[in-house]
Amino acid sequence: MKTPILLTTLIVMSASLSSPVTAGLTESLYGKMPDGREVKIYTLTNSSGMEAKVTEYGAILVSLKVPDKDGKPADVTHGYDTLEGWLGNSSYFGASVGRFGNRIANGKFTLDGKEYTLLTNNDPGGMPCALHGGKEGFCKKLWKGEAVSADGASGVKLSYVSADGEEGYPGELSVEVTYTLTEKNELVWEAKATTKAPTVLNIVHHTYWNLSGDPDKSINDHELTLYAANYLPTNAGMIPTGEKAPVAGTPLDFTKAHVIGERIDADFEALKFGGGYDHAWVLDGTGDGDLVKAARLRDPKSGRVMTLATNQPAVQFYGGNFLDGTTTGKGGVKYQHRTALCLETENWPDAPNNPKAPTAILRPGETYHHKMVHAFSAE
Ligand code: BGC
Repeated sequence: MKTPILLTTLIVMSASLSSPVTAGLTESLYGKMPDGREVKIYTLTNSSGMEAKVTEYGAILVSLKVPDKDGKPADVTHGYDTLEGWLGNSSYFGASVGRFGNRIANGKFTLDGKEYTLLTNNDPGGMPCALHGGKEGFCKKLWKGEAVSADGASGVKLSYVSADGEEGYPGELSVEVTYTLTEKNELVWEAKATTKAPTVLNIVHHTYWNLSGDPDKSINDHELTLYAANYLPTNAGMIPTGEKAPVAGTPLDFTKAHVIGERIDADFEALKFGGGYDHAWVLDGTGDGDLVKAARLRDPKSGRVMTLATNQPAVQFYGGNFLDGTTTGKGGVKYQHRTALCLETENWPDAPNNPKAPTAILRPGETYHHKMVHAFSAE
């Protein structure tokens, strides 16, 4: 068959814009930072019709297309269409957050006898804290991307060196975040870090999920299971008190699948502090390096299911309570209240100030390793 001239021209043009790196992986220019540095975007695909887009800016997951029960793929994440949109990403959509994801009370912690002060950029209940890495955390940095492949799966490794003293944190930290899309329909996010001086860290992946593929639709009808018999009660500033409390008999009990909206308006202090679900659950597994089950999320209409496994001790389930229709995202959609949710595996919030929490300290010679496996299916 003869290819029409116009089509040939278009094919040649698009090939020059987007270059295949390996099977299932292409890279292209996404845009430029305000200072002129070029920013790449990578597209990962597998043979079941999944597609992940990842950018060097913020080591962000830009989109993830997942087939529904009829095989129809749709993007199941909130975010922006262009780099310009992502530059103003105040909700941490899709981001790799650090150094310390979640909250540090009063923006202060003590390490080896020395007190460190961070910028406070959040104040739930009028109580100031440092949230998600500060003014210009990892999610606002330009990382360096590199194509990788392992066991036939395509991936992208993003590297960033955080200077000693950046955002108030001690120690030069070298960080690598890798996204891999496997033939088993898994999106794997992995963070590794080493440091030149003792520091604290909690690198967190912050995608907002709406498995329906319709970003206008509430996630309150999704069904959620959390493999956690305990949660961390907080003060009004959403800082854990240090006690673990059983979820049994509370609206935070997701040990069996529950529709998210079912108990969301219950008269329960934790739900009032969070304005809905916005808490850390302590995972039942040991979290000592082996992956443990964290969550299972299902959208009954599309049939899409996401299961999440991790090597971290806790998961923050944030139900999109602060989305309020003022952010315009992909396709011009204004993201309304609770139209997406986050499942952030991590250490305990405020771990550096909490002697009961697993340590958040990384010392020279040690390697920080956080792994999340998001496995997708449809039923
Ligand atoms: C937190 C929320 C916060 C949101 C910001 C979540 O990780 O739990 O309290 O408002 O991030 O996007």
